[in-house]
Formats: sequence, C-alpha cells, structure tokens
Amino acid sequence: MKKIIIAIDGHSSTGKSTFAKAIAKVMDYTYLDSGALYRAVTLYALDHGWISPEGKPNAQAIVDHLKDIRLTFVKDPQTGQNRTYVNGKDVEERIRSMEVSAHVSPVSEIPLVRDFVDFQLRKRGEKKGIVMDGRDIGTAVFPRAELKIFMTAPAEIRADRRLRELKAKGMEATFAQVLANVRQRDYVDSHRETHPLVKAPDALLLDNGSMSVEEQLDWFKKIMEEKWGIRLK
Ligand code: DC
Repeated sequence: MKKIIIAIDGHSSTGKSTFAKAIAKVMDYTYLDSGALYRAVTLYALDHGWISPEGKPNAQAIVDHLKDIRLTFVKDPQTGQNRTYVNGKDVEERIRSMEVSAHVSPVSEIPLVRDFVDFQLRKRGEKKGIVMDGRDIGTAVFPRAELKIFMTAPAEIRADRRLRELKAKGMEATFAQVLANVRQRDYVDSHRETHPLVKAPDALLLDNGSMSVEEQLDWFKKIMEEKWGIRLK
C-alpha cells in the first residue's frame, strides 16, 4: 500500500502519544512527537538564559539563534523509540523535565519558532509513512494528510489520568489543581494566535474518555479496513 501521513491532534492528556505509537507499530511507520521539538527549543533557550526568572522568553534572542539548533532523532535500540538530540547531545530526559514543561507554552507561541518547527516536521514527513502527533499537525503542518484524527475526552477524565501519572512519579497534587491545569492548557492551546488547537473539518473525532488503548486500536483498524480496505493484525 502507498504510504500515508497520519496526523493526530487533540487536547492535552488524551493519550495522543500512546495511541500514535500503537498505530505506528501496527502500520510499521515512524512515530514523531512534534511537542519534542518545541521542548528542545525551550531547553536550548533555558540553557542560554533566554527565559527570564518570571518565565518570559526573549523571543528575539531565541529567533536569532534558531539557525544554531540542530535537531535529530535517534532510535533507541532497546525501546525502539526515538530519542531527541540537540546539536549531537541526547536531551530526551531533560526535555521532559518540569522546568521545560513549565516554559514551553510561551516559546511555542513565537511565530518564527513555529515556522522553524514546522519546517523540521515537514522535512521528516516528506517520505510519508509517518504518524505525527501534536496540536496543529492536521491543520497547519500537514493540511493534506491522508488521515487526520482529533482526540479528546472529558476534562475530568483527563485530569484523573494526569493525576495518576503524577502520583506514579511520586509527585504531590490534588485533583482540583490538576483539573484547573488541564482546563488552563485547553484554553491556552485553543486561543493562541498562531495555529491554535482546532479540529480540522476533515479529522475523525476520537473521544476516548471511556476507551482502553486496545479499544482505540480496534477503532483505528476498523477505519483502515473501511476506508482503505487494509486489514491490520
Ligand atoms: O505535547 P507536549 O506537551 O509535549 O507539547 C509541548 C508544548 O508544545 C505544549 O505547550 C503544546 C506545544 N505544541 C504545539 O503548540 N504544537 C504542536 N504541534 C505540538 C506541541
């Protein structure tokens, strides 16, 4: 079968990456997490002191140095997953830190940072055979992606998932705090000036509030069979 681009967008804590990785595996496609690129630029900015103690990024300094940031992905032979590298250094753990999570949002709002990331993503999608997840993949990065999926779930369910993740990592938080954060992120993502999070008109809606990963995968396989006549194992 001709290789396609599968674009997965949606609200935070909807399990986009788990679902996207599962799809990439059954399709034998490459998985790319677009958020990792925004996180890598944010880490670079933090390391160079371009984000103030109050969390305000120095957009000019970041934009002026985008040309110095070389992003690569290297497959970890043990997990089979890509690890993110900046200028030859493995930063996979560091880009997932709380510090980067707390600062990535304003950095991802800088229009030239978005252009820089979009260029990188498009370059990697040229050969197709890719599953990419993010907030604007089906609307801005690959508006012509052959398959677009928009994931959502009720905010309370997403907050509950996030709370469990945090607790598993030994972090303290209350349900009310996490729910407020989920709602806040929904608002920021959907109201940003450049490429806000919206469902592309031609995206299929996947509300996974009461679905297991297995059920989501069955849903996907059914679509592949109905739309493309492809039977996946
Ligand atoms: O999915 P994530 O939490 O790793 O994303 C990190 C940040 O990057 C988050 O603030 C949303 C932003 N992002 C974006 O604006 N567009 C994308 N395509 C992917 C992520």
